[in-house]
Order: sequence, then C-alpha cells, then structure tokens
Amino acid sequence: MKKLLVALACVSSLSFAADYDPVKGEMLSLSCFSCHGTDGKSVAVTPQIAGMGKTTLYQTLLEYKNGTRPGTMMPKHVKGFSDEELMQVATYFSTIKR
Ligand code: HEC
Repeated sequence: MKKLLVALACVSSLSFAADYDPVKGEMLSLSCFSCHGTDGKSVAVTPQIAGMGKTTLYQTLLEYKNGTRPGTMMPKHVKGFSDEELMQVATYFSTIKR
C-alpha cells in the first residue's frame, strides 16, 4: 500500500499539479472515511463532507493545515498531506453526490 502510494505520488508529480487522478484521490480519501463516514457521508457527530464545493473544501483543509482554522482533529490529520494531495482529496469529495 505504502509503495503504491509512493509510486502514484511520483507519477503525479510529473504532471501538472491541478490534474486530478481519480485513483489517488480516492486512496487519499480513505483516510477520511473513518471519521466522516464512507465517501464523506457522515452518520456521526463529524460534519458531512460529501458534495462540498471543491474550492471550499480545499480552502478549509489548507486553513486547518496552516493553523488559521481551529479544530480538534483536522489540524492534526491534514499535516500529513501535501497541498497537492489536499487538492486531490477535495476534488474526490466534491464529486460525491450527497
Ligand atoms: C480523526 C477523525 C477525522 C479524520 C480522520 C478526518 N476528519 Fe475532517 N473533521 C473531523 C472533525 C472532528 C471535524 C470538526 C472540526 C474539528 O474539530 O477538527 C472535521 C471537520 C472537517 C471539515 C470541515 C467541515 C465543515 O463543514 O466545517 C472538512 C472539510 C473535513 N473535516 C475534511 C476532512 C478530510 C478531507 C479528511 C481526510 C483527509 C478528514 N476530514 C479526516 C474529524 C476527522
């Protein structure tokens, strides 16, 4: 799994940063399912993120990462992602219908 992610990261870094890779987007998004529900359709106290706007999602994630938006879990979680990976994740959830 790790090796595959590294391989995918290498492949995608050769292409234009804004290119969306559906496989990579879904893989990175798996890490969100445990709290936000499968495909971001939350059934718990965590907010539903399925179907949010791509730009809103990306901005929100960047704010958690750079510390300008407070949170209990999100600031910790997004620190493991590059900005490009957050864009992949944002695109993935924006394509899911609520
Ligand atoms: C450990 C549990 C956990 C994980 C994993 C997690 N989240 Fe969250 N998320 C939360 C919680 C809790 C909140 C509410 C804000 C806070 O307290 O951090 C939140 C808030 C958010 C919000 C803000 C929603 C809104 O309407 O304000 C977005 C967007 C979001 N998460 C996206 C993601 C994405 C994308 C991932 C995967 C990269 C992810 N989260 C992984 C727990 C988690």
